[in-house]
Amino acid sequence: MFEPVLTKYVNEPGGHTLDFYVQHGGYQALKTALGMTPEAIVDTVKKSGLRGRGGAGFPTGLKWSFVPKDNPKPKYLCVNADESEPGTFKDHVLLERNPHLLFEGCVIACRAIGARTCYIYIRGEFYHLQKQMEAELAKARQAGYVGKNILGSGEDCDIWIHRGAGAYEAGEETALIESLEGKRAQPRLKPPFPAVVGLYGCPTVVNNVETICNVPLIIEKGHEWFAGIGPDKNTGPKLFCVSGHVKKPGVYEAPMDTTLRQLIYDYAGGIRGDRQLKAVIPGGSSTPVLMPDKLDTHLSFDGMVAAGSMLGSAAIIVMDETTSMVWVAKNLTHFYKHESCGKCTPCREGVDWLYKILDKIERGDGEPRDVELLLSVCDNIGGKTLCPFGDAEIAPVLSTIQHFRGEYETYIRTGESPVQSDFRAAEPVSAH
Ligand SMILES: Cc1cc2nc3c(=O)[nH]c(=O)nc-3n(C[C@H](O)[C@H](O)[C@H](O)COP(=O)(O)O)c2cc1C
Ligand code: SF4
Repeated sequence: MFEPVLTKYVNEPGGHTLDFYVQHGGYQALKTALGMTPEAIVDTVKKSGLRGRGGAGFPTGLKWSFVPKDNPKPKYLCVNADESEPGTFKDHVLLERNPHLLFEGCVIACRAIGARTCYIYIRGEFYHLQKQMEAELAKARQAGYVGKNILGSGEDCDIWIHRGAGAYEAGEETALIESLEGKRAQPRLKPPFPAVVGLYGCPTVVNNVETICNVPLIIEKGHEWFAGIGPDKNTGPKLFCVSGHVKKPGVYEAPMDTTLRQLIYDYAGGIRGDRQLKAVIPGGSSTPVLMPDKLDTHLSFDGMVAAGSMLGSAAIIVMDETTSMVWVAKNLTHFYKHESCGKCTPCREGVDWLYKILDKIERGDGEPRDVELLLSVCDNIGGKTLCPFGDAEIAPVLSTIQHFRGEYETYIRTGESPVQSDFRAAEPVSAH
């Protein structure tokens, strides 16, 4: 059985404090890293095979190596703690219960890329975390792990917690940078990529919280240890958020050769009321729905792509037989409608249109042409927007139609949901 490392102490009282962290071996990796060259740190992370945990699974060491060494401008590390996608709540656990692992990872990552400043951009709604994190950060600074002349090494690195704009789109890396600069959280055109022109026009790396938390573990335990966990090219421990119709929803740490079936039935206790599984969203609301025939697929970046979806933010949303798929599409589209940053027309107007059609079907006023209309609107959004939000917002509509077209058509024909749901969340409430 795999023994958790990222979440080993998250249920211990006081596990988030500096004293506890140091007593359990914390900041030893930093001492090791201070004796390594930046190139050696990057090389070790490359050899570990660590892939970014923020959604795209991009190799972390490779991303760090894109930061130009000969650029005289300051360099920055931005930690993406905006975590807002429906179903995703893993970074919250690390921020709340293991903040020093993150701080230690930040200082090591800054040394690797030549940065002296790190911003942890936390989700606007995480106001309750800001005070606790800042208090722990002050203790780390006082103890010499963060700030000037770290542990007498001559190395400087400071960390700042920046509470974000409270927007899902602020998690897109260039929108995050805009927001940090004090502007609206709207994405920039790429290229140039942030590694070359990022925060304040300077070379910048944006990494996810969980990604950075893996860094001290790689330095402490070695790249061979990390690379030995999970399948080839999908290495290391992984956090999975399991929500929906399971008996024990929560955050589970497991290697990526764990199957969807093991996660749902062994870790999360199976389906509530022992009902039938209807479908699973494997990687947060922006990833296509999978059917039960994919239950034996590995929960890895590559396994999920092979199954026709994506691992994304590893947010597994489990839906039992009482779930109306039209309602799922409408509910998630409501989220995207609310969160679109409005910069480009296909996303801004298209998502509004999708929502109106789904709402009409749900009210019993659907027309026979509506399924084709939904597909046509999706076709005019997918691949035609400035950032991947456009592709994200059409995923729930496209994949529920692909697998449950009959359910849509019956709903439209009869004016009523063909699914006998005994559970319905409240109607989405718009903040505007
Ligand atoms: C709309 C949108 C929202 C995103 N939200 C997050 C987020 O909350 N956290 C995150 O780490 N990455 C998020 N990403 C991905 C980031 O843009 C970026 O790829 C990631 O932070 C890189 O970190 P990694 O290489 O460590 O995975 C989002 C992307 C998009 C398009
Ligand atoms: S796709 Fe949507 S969220 Fe992304 S830039 Fe365009 S309007 Fe903004």
